[in-house]
Amino acid sequence: MDRFSEILFNEQTIAAKVEELAGRISRDYAGKELVLVCILKGAVTFMSDLMRRISAPVAIEFIQASSYGDAILSSDSVIIKRDIGTDIGNKHVLLVDTIVDTGKTLDCLFKILAEKNPASLNAVTLLDKKTRRAIKVPIVYCGFEIPDKFVVGYGMDYGEKYRNLPYIAVLNHE
Ligand code: IMP
Ligand code: MG
Repeated sequence: MDRFSEILFNEQTIAAKVEELAGRISRDYAGKELVLVCILKGAVTFMSDLMRRISAPVAIEFIQASSYGDAILSSDSVIIKRDIGTDIGNKHVLLVDTIVDTGKTLDCLFKILAEKNPASLNAVTLLDKKTRRAIKVPIVYCGFEIPDKFVVGYGMDYGEKYRNLPYIAVLNHE
């Protein structure tokens, strides 16, 4: 059986969408001090592509959340494994994620970063499994809405595998 049932987005399609999102962000944050906060590990690929397309000067930070449980299903408990390392008080902060599923991870990170008193706090995600949402989260920048399928590649994993794929594929479950 093939590992992947379909290639959802190829490199060219992803690059065009990243360019479009970066253009919107560049316009919206022109003249502002922007801090991109990458959600480890899944957003490293998206973050590194996105930041190189943003024309405004950006600072970068990293935060790591971990949900205990299954590699495929989201779990209820989100814990912070690594917090950001600099003061974001009065700065414009944009959380960068590759995929939002139930919204629990983003909701938790929003609350943690909001306590640090940023000037503004928004999120960008490349993919949104909107039909799976359990918690309402404000996502200003969204690349593609996708159906409820488990995807890998472009930073996203299944049991730590497939993060290095340059495209996004739907995983076949045996
Ligand atoms: P949420 O807290 O349910 O929104 O889950 C978000 C996190 O679950 C993402 O940042 C990913 O790490 C992981 N995740 C959700 N759906 C997928 C998927 O289809 N493939 C790979 N990881 C996923
Ligand atoms: Mg994972």
